[in-house]
Amino acid sequence: MKPVEIKPGIYWVGAVDWDLRYFHGYLTPRGTTYNAYLIVDEKIVLVDTVKHYLFDEMLDRIKGVVEPSRIDYLVVNHVEMDHSGSVPRIMELAPRAKIVTNPQGKKALGRHYKKDWDCLVVNSGDEVKIGARTLKFFTTPMVHWPDSMVTYIPEERLLLPNDAFGQHLACDARFDDQVGWEVVHEEAAKYYANIVLPYGEQVNKVLDALAALEIDMIGPSHGVIWRTYLAQIVQAYRRWANHETERRALIVYDTMWGSTKKIALALQDGLEDAGVPVTVKFLQTNHISEIVPHVLVSRAVLVGSPTLNNGMLPTVSAFLTYLRGLRPQKRIGLAFGSYGWGGQGAREVKAAMEAMGWEVPFDVINIQYIPDEAELAAVRETARKLGEML
Ligand code: FEO
Repeated sequence: MKPVEIKPGIYWVGAVDWDLRYFHGYLTPRGTTYNAYLIVDEKIVLVDTVKHYLFDEMLDRIKGVVEPSRIDYLVVNHVEMDHSGSVPRIMELAPRAKIVTNPQGKKALGRHYKKDWDCLVVNSGDEVKIGARTLKFFTTPMVHWPDSMVTYIPEERLLLPNDAFGQHLACDARFDDQVGWEVVHEEAAKYYANIVLPYGEQVNKVLDALAALEIDMIGPSHGVIWRTYLAQIVQAYRRWANHETERRALIVYDTMWGSTKKIALALQDGLEDAGVPVTVKFLQTNHISEIVPHVLVSRAVLVGSPTLNNGMLPTVSAFLTYLRGLRPQKRIGLAFGSYGWGGQGAREVKAAMEAMGWEVPFDVINIQYIPDEAELAAVRETARKLGEML
């Protein structure tokens, strides 16, 4: 396992998790990486670690540069265990190492590992001189946890922002241009939609702070390192943080006997008549984590459910629960469905959209049993009007 020198004297020593397919509710068909960075200066610094079961892979890479016992500082940018999972093993091998963390991080490390490690507690803006280089820390609470912070090395124009700008992508390449914008953007968007979306306000604050820094490389804790598409990914983060969307629609539905599907397809027709590009996602064949990247870019989100046992289908309910947690804003919603007698399913969908603060300009489309041609024509007309509003 070889380290990769990303700047003179700075090495990627992380691990590639080729087999990861599930990350707390999020499907990761391309696997992921946990990125750790070793800085060799007068002081030896390790920034973050890897998931516990990949410790040996990281250790091999560190040993390719220095003896682990020589590590002086272990920077913990974030305590979630995909990054801190190997902290206890490193601390055993590096007895003189001091953990660099912020007050929230110190508290979280204590709760996770119950150890009394020697810690250097830093606050936002603090600096630690390590020889020719400086480590500067900025706390970034809730991007992704209260303890999250970024490490900036001004002499190298290098930002190590942990989860921010990450992508769940396992590959032999270490840099964005070796993968290409299309794939790296797709994975960064999926990552943002599933993990960072609730924290737009905090992301904007981070972006404001970063705007004052000179940066020519961003080494996140997942996926490839940004050295070519920096401006593009920072602009994308700004758009996503501001909940900016495109003139496009997403239709998400489940169906029992095909009636809600007929309504979904009539809605697609009407939106397309208005010149709106439409993505249609059936909840039985698409995982919710694969659908939310489409929510990220779609101005209109139409959700359909038949009524089962006086409520929504559980698949629709799970999707809306996941979405409520992710808190996408500035969307226009439309609820639809079919029913036999109660009709509560689609009404619950509309209530969920309103609870998220979405604009819901049309009443629920709720059709008993099987829609007829006249009803489908009315559905198309509603969708056409919605399309003209976008
Ligand atoms: Fe990649 Fe929030 O941990």
